[in-house]
Amino acid sequence: MTMTRPVLRREGTTRGGRPYVIRPSQDADAPGLAALIDAVAGEGELIAAVPGEPDTIEQSSRLVSIVLEGGLTLTLEVDGVPQGHVMVQRRAGGHYAHVGEIAILVSNEQRGAGLGRLLMETAIEWGRVVGLAKLSLRVFPDNRRAIALYRSLGFQDEGLVRGEVRMPSGDRDMLLMGLALSGPGSARPPAILQNE
Ligand SMILES: CC(C)(COP(=O)(O)OP(=O)(O)OC[C@H]1O[C@@H](n2cnc3c(N)ncnc32)[C@H](O)[C@@H]1OP(=O)(O)O)[C@@H](O)C(=O)NCCC(=O)NCCS
Repeated sequence: MTMTRPVLRREGTTRGGRPYVIRPSQDADAPGLAALIDAVAGEGELIAAVPGEPDTIEQSSRLVSIVLEGGLTLTLEVDGVPQGHVMVQRRAGGHYAHVGEIAILVSNEQRGAGLGRLLMETAIEWGRVVGLAKLSLRVFPDNRRAIALYRSLGFQDEGLVRGEVRMPSGDRDMLLMGLALSGPGSARPPAILQNE
């Protein structure tokens, strides 16, 4: 049987002339990713996190469990420092095995230069190759930048989940979005591939 591997590595140069790489996350990324989440959480209510969480140990065990559960976690590194992250989480149980939940963030300094799109495209490509039928995500309805990116990639609005996340401003709604990767009549191959 011929085995193909998803292309999980992308390299290039940022708009500012710095080398970047997108690659599978490693344990050593945990402190840098925890700091990145902390910094983005500190910008306001863009993601479902507040500064000070999760700590590095939680972040490290999260990276491992995402992959053990059949998901994906990719780090964007600029000049050797984690500056972005995308993950696809899988839920346990056969009824949910066809869907992955995707989440992304890019550091404030590196935004608006196409790296978020590249992270999303790499994860979507992985989802297709491993045979997922659908990617879903949740986003705050006022996160216009993220929603514009998702819509441009083909994600569609699927509804509003009320009071889903407790944030400093109160209980916030989340917009559900989904991207079908395969459907009736699709010629996609079965899930024969695994994350590296
Ligand atoms: C959402 C996020 C990941 C996008 O990453 P990015 O690297 O800035 O995105 P890109 O430069 O690849 O831009 C992709 C698209 O986003 C949208 N976008 C980018 N900057 C924008 C801006 N200032 N205003 C509105 N839309 C914008 C556009 O649709 C853009 O497409 P284009 O390149 O064809 O114009 C990034 O802004 C981020 O991490 N934000 C904070 C954390 C967050 O909100 N995460 C998502 C939580 S659900």
